[in-house]
Amino acid sequence: MQVNLDYAKPFIDSKVFDNTKEDVKKAHQSLKDKTIKGADFLGWVPGNPLKKETVDKIIAVADVIKKQVDVLVVIGIGGSYLGAKAAMDALSPYFKKPDVEVIFAGHHLSGAYLDGLLHYLKDKRFAINVISKSGTTTEPALAFRLLKDTLIQKVGLKKAQELIVATTDPETGALRQLANQEGYQTFEVPSDIGGRFSVFSAVGILPMAVAGIDVKAFLKGAKDAALEFEKDPSLAYDYATIRQSLYRSGKKFEIFVHFEPKLHFTAEWLKQLFGESEGKEEQGLYVTSAGFSTDLHSLGQIIQEGEKIFFETVLHIEEPLSDLRVPLDNKNLDGLNYLADRTFDYVNEKAMQATRLAHVDGNVPNIRLSLPKLDAYEYGKFLYFFCLVVALSGAASGVNPFNQPGVEAYKVNMFALLGKPGFEKEKEALLKR
Ligand code: PA5
Repeated sequence: MQVNLDYAKPFIDSKVFDNTKEDVKKAHQSLKDKTIKGADFLGWVPGNPLKKETVDKIIAVADVIKKQVDVLVVIGIGGSYLGAKAAMDALSPYFKKPDVEVIFAGHHLSGAYLDGLLHYLKDKRFAINVISKSGTTTEPALAFRLLKDTLIQKVGLKKAQELIVATTDPETGALRQLANQEGYQTFEVPSDIGGRFSVFSAVGILPMAVAGIDVKAFLKGAKDAALEFEKDPSLAYDYATIRQSLYRSGKKFEIFVHFEPKLHFTAEWLKQLFGESEGKEEQGLYVTSAGFSTDLHSLGQIIQEGEKIFFETVLHIEEPLSDLRVPLDNKNLDGLNYLADRTFDYVNEKAMQATRLAHVDGNVPNIRLSLPKLDAYEYGKFLYFFCLVVALSGAASGVNPFNQPGVEAYKVNMFALLGKPGFEKEKEALLKR
């Protein structure tokens, strides 16, 4: 993995960079000695938080599911679904029908989506992995109520007990109680791992294993990244320092950019990881994303010529994913023979170089993060790297990177408006408005 700062450093005053680096170093020290804010949530730090027996058990459960069903419905929201979705999209081939289709639910409240899903599942064999650390989140809880009833009606309670896996807190929460009482299989979300850091636990690993991803390699990647960081923290330092320095220099938005559609959900995962970790106490970079070259035909204009409040972080894969070549056409009516025999990857790479230079000329600083290739091992390293960076960068800015108090505000209003018992006063106040 490499971090290239050549097109970002010139935008920063060296004093700002040096001071920020000092803050990042202090943040690292606080991570090491566990004085960092939110130190109760450092269970992800070793990279692979799972015991070997747990990994084997997860793989065994995944194998049983794979043998029995056509579809696995993964129910969860935020950190309880984004990591698995990101990994599946990044690591699965395009247009290949999987042995077991993995469908996500409970990540929004669309009745039309759930209605369509029930219809789709009607003549299919399906299993459910419901994932909620708190076990009380409304979106997944509602989807689970609907889908488990459907499954029980279809196959009976006994069989449904084999086909439903709940991944939740070891002790607390409604989902834990429900799973215990109704006899579903369970995996734990360790109490010291927050949702957006949970991709390396059963939260991410079970759905990924069902999707056919080499989860052992993924976990080894995360673990090796943790060991490498212990030996030499410079890559994480560089990236955490540069993004905080850019923020301190007036940039308000970090755009995660990729040139590979497989990385679309990796960027969604990053948006959650950074947004929920750093956006508090009226500060924090607003993290967004763009898929190029597609979005060069939409957002490209504002990035190039809009207000100078952005910087870009390019997610770059070094080893080509394909060697498909542009064919020669003797008529050359489209004038494309100058590209004949070039790989599509070559063309895409040139698009990346051209875009970086153009955007830098438009005063948009550009960082490039390169992973050598897109396989389970490197991807595990890659995701772990960002967990470290957000801990360093968030702590350097003075916030607790591991909580998300701001997520509660909408929930309170929603419960009040829906008439949930206990929210009567809030309801009255909201209705007046
Ligand atoms: O990162 C987080 O902690 C959140 O995004 C949670 O993952 C999300 O709110 C879902 O919570 P839960 O798993 O408790 O249902």
